[in-house]
Formats: sequence, C-alpha cells, structure tokens
Amino acid sequence: IQCILLIYYSTMANIHIYDSSDEERGILEHGLTGHFLTFYPAPITIGIVSPDAEIISIFVSSTVTIEMLDKMPNLKLIACRSAGYNNVPIYEAEKRGIHIVVVPSYGESTVAEYTFSLLLLLTRKINESVKAIKENMFFDPVKLRGIDLFGKKIGVIGTGRIGKRLISIAKGFGMDVIAYDAYENETAAHMFGFTYVSKEELFKQSDIISLHAPLTDGTRHILNEEAFSLMKDSVYIINTARGELIDTGALLVALNNNKIAGVGLDVVEGEEFIKENPVDVKENVEESAKLLRYSSNISLLIKDDRVLLTPHVAYNTHEAVARIIETTIQNIRDYGNGVITNKVTVDLTQNT
Ligand code: NAI
Repeated sequence: IQCILLIYYSTMANIHIYDSSDEERGILEHGLTGHFLTFYPAPITIGIVSPDAEIISIFVSSTVTIEMLDKMPNLKLIACRSAGYNNVPIYEAEKRGIHIVVVPSYGESTVAEYTFSLLLLLTRKINESVKAIKENMFFDPVKLRGIDLFGKKIGVIGTGRIGKRLISIAKGFGMDVIAYDAYENETAAHMFGFTYVSKEELFKQSDIISLHAPLTDGTRHILNEEAFSLMKDSVYIINTARGELIDTGALLVALNNNKIAGVGLDVVEGEEFIKENPVDVKENVEESAKLLRYSSNISLLIKDDRVLLTPHVAYNTHEAVARIIETTIQNIRDYGNGVITNKVTVDLTQNT
C-alpha cells in the first residue's frame, strides 16, 4: 500500500495557474483531478510566485522573468494558454531544463475573422455611422464614405495558420493578396493564390497591411519609421499579432502626417503595463518611465478617430477558449505521462 501511495503522490504535481477566470477554474479542476492546483486570477508577479511550483500555467497577460524562475527551483513545465510564448524567457528556461508548451492551434479562424472585422469597421466607417445615428440622427454621407475591399491589395506579413486563413477570407472578398514571410511556403502560395514579395515591396504595394508573424528579434518593430515612409498614402494597418511588431512612436508620427487612413490594433506595445497595477512598477524607475511612455502613446491612439484599439481579444470566442483549455489540460496530462506535446523548440545556439 505504501508503495502504491508513493507512486500516486509522485504523479501529483503542484500546479500554479495564473490569469485564471472562474469559468476556466472549474474546467481545469475537473480536467486535472489528482494534482494540487492553486489559482490566481491575476497575472504572475514576483510577489506571488511559489517556490513549490512544479508546473505553472499562464495566459498572455503574464510575463515570466528570469528572477521568477530563480524563485521556482522545482519548476519543470510552463504551460502557456496561448499560441505565442514571447512572454517567457525561453533560453533561460531551456538551460534549466524547463519545458515550455503552448496551444499552437485553437483559433486560426477566430483570429482571422476578428482581423477582418477590424478591417471592415475601419474601411466602411461602421463605428462612426452607428455613432451618427445614436447621437443626432444627422449624418453627412461624405464623412461616412468608405472604400471597397474588392480589387484592393492586401499585404499579409506571416503566412502561418492565421495568415493563411485571413488570405482565404480576403480572396472571398475579391482582393489581391501579396505576402511576406521569413520562411516562404510556395505550396500555400499556389493553393491560396497569393504571391510572396520582399518586405519593402509589400510596404510599397499594399492598400492594407495585416500582421500575423510572431514576436521575435526579426519581427520587433517590423513596422518602423522606414517602413511607414515606403507605404502608400491612405494605407490601412491591422495588427492582431503582437504590439511590439509596430513602433508605436513611428505609427503616431505617420498618423500625424496623414499617411494612414485607419489602424486596427488588438494588440499594442505596453498593453501588459496598462493592465498591471501601476503601483507595482512605481518602485522601479526604468519600468515607471516605460509605463509612462506606453500610457501616453496609448492615450494618443485612443483619442484618434482613425484608430480602433481593442484589448487583445481576437482569440476570445466560446469555441476558441474551450479549445485553449482542452489543449492545456492535455498538455499537462501528457507531461504527467512522460510525453511532451506542443513543446516550443529552443535552439540555444541562437541565444547570442
Ligand atoms: P504561425 O506560427 O502558424 O505563423 C507565423 C508565421 O510567421 C509563420 O509562417 C512564420 O514563418 C512567420 N514568421 C516568422 N518569423 C518571421 C519574420 N521574421 N518575418 C516574417 N514572417 C515571419 O502562427 P499563427 O498561429 O498564425 O499566429 C501568429 C501570431 O498571432 C502569433 O505568434 C501570436 O503572436 C498572434 N496571436 C494573437 C492572438 C490574439 O488574440 N490577438 C491570438 C493568437 C495568436
């Protein structure tokens, strides 16, 4: 009996789950019966990391730091409830033998549909039209005039799961599609009917630019001052990937210069600072300065009628959230059975 109990307890893990809603909590408790679960509705911070954690699970609102890893010596698995993992110090985790697992595919249609919604809201001035009716019943058709998407050229950066789904929707609207990807997929280009071009060509030719690449050193500020200078006047920009893909300062300058007709942002640089309790970061001067810069940039974006800013919700449908939780439970169960599924592959030689 002692032996059976020992085996039983050795398979039970201390799992700390951050950013958890009440709804998720019930499903996770049911799916991970037999483990010791601790839930935190808030994102992870250094003050609430637990030294006994063997597994942690986080959402995109949490950022794990090296200092936090130091405080969790037993940590073996980070289960991200997201496709992206730019909020985890991957090289440091790999060096310590900590696996990072993600939910690679839960909502390519979910995010692509949302991306297209932002595009339609902007190009057909739907928010302004609704506002015109609500506020005074008077509307000026000239001010509310939009543009057709049929025949327009959309430039898609990142032709992975979401990018490809967006391309097929754009094709349904009769749009021309060009794309840029660091790893071109000619089979997809042939199948979906689009052409790969260089980044610069994409900036020059596109009427609309939509971002669907992960945040890496190669994509950080891919839309910068130089990129904006190459773009057509009255270009539309949509970002449902990660905020840091756009240099917000350069975007604000381009808006000031009337270069851009509309911007749809589900993600923005500094969104994590805005959601966090500012009291936590006041202690640190550098972080406070960053918070101030990001907050003032975000305020300027919110005030601009050409900008639609939403709080990182492109993933947020009943179906997609259910798939995220299901895969996370499976990822953790697989780990318990000695199998690592949906692991992020980390090449330590790239860590220069
Ligand atoms: P994916 O991994 O299927 O596709 C990413 C594509 O980007 C790949 O084709 C890859 O080759 C390309 N890429 C990588 N480095 C590049 C570079 N330097 N330049 C150009 N292209 C590059 O990823 P998926 O599922 O399509 O998601 C894309 C991104 O969308 C995620 O990384 C995540 O940041 C974001 N996302 C946002 C959500 C939201 O709620 N707003 C929800 C889900 C994902």
